[in-house]
Amino acid sequence: MKSKNEHPKYAFFQGSIIPISKAKIDIRTSALQYGLAIFEGIRSYYNEEDNYCYVFRMEDHYKRLFKNSNILMIKINYSISELCKITLELLKKEDYKEDCYIRPFAYNSGLKIGPKLTGIEQDIFIYTIPLGKYLETDKPINVCISSWNRLSDNCLPPRAKISGSYVNSAIQKTEALLNGYDEAIVLTNDGQHVSEGSAMNLFMVKDKVLITPPVTDDILEGITRDTVIKIAQNELGIKTIERSIDRTELYTADELFFCGTGAQISPIGTVDKRIIGDGNVGEITKVLQDYYFKLVKNKIQKYSSWCTPVK
Ligand SMILES: Cc1ncc(COP(=O)(O)O)c(C=O)c1O
Repeated sequence: MKSKNEHPKYAFFQGSIIPISKAKIDIRTSALQYGLAIFEGIRSYYNEEDNYCYVFRMEDHYKRLFKNSNILMIKINYSISELCKITLELLKKEDYKEDCYIRPFAYNSGLKIGPKLTGIEQDIFIYTIPLGKYLETDKPINVCISSWNRLSDNCLPPRAKISGSYVNSAIQKTEALLNGYDEAIVLTNDGQHVSEGSAMNLFMVKDKVLITPPVTDDILEGITRDTVIKIAQNELGIKTIERSIDRTELYTADELFFCGTGAQISPIGTVDKRIIGDGNVGEITKVLQDYYFKLVKNKIQKYSSWCTPVK
């Protein structure tokens, strides 16, 4: 028997909030056939002290969705504030008392054969799911360099969260898992530099400085990446250098960690079996992590504008 509290119960689909069991698409849908969709991943965190859920940087996620939709020429017929309102309504109806993940999905909903961006119906749906850890955060994880490179901007732009481009991520993640690793680090399309993880950004600590690949090294311009840069600068006085990273710089790093909405802040213990630092969670990684987990639950007043309460 299904539990009474099973989530999700609802979805925003074709203009209204309906039971998720009724939110179905036609098998001919262009987005399903050709991967023609732009999506977002947003987290809502449950603060057990005040009993509220807080959506983290919701407006920034929807801003990115709008910017990226221009790449695929998807027209979203709602404003950012309307989408925020719908999201909060959905979350209120679900009544989560746990962390969850929100998936807005703007897509080519038309049924015509042939991959093209224009002259086809478009729509957006949103649903939510409970989500705990996507990657380990307490213990360092073991990663490899993927044998599969990242996509390039002039092929399938990684800067946009295009659904079709996640085939690239799936291949990388699966190869890593099948070989006994927890995650993959991916090189740029030309194989010359480090890009990011299969679905998360990467930071390296060297001599107490943070270094992360620039937005032109085939990465998604992560919102968590931006959060980390800001916390490091404003709260720890640690600056971040955005520059290309060589593969072997990873092997000689003091600390390494992934970050992302799903990944949160996940420490890396080994890369290609080389131990990073002393193999434990790095000092700077730990401080950033502790601050991040307080911040996203609206426990730091200064950043409360990033945390929208569900009420
Ligand atoms: C490929 C990729 N890189 C990086 C990230 C991290 O981005 P954000 O921090 O905005 O979630 C994601 C999404 O989670 C992603 O899919």
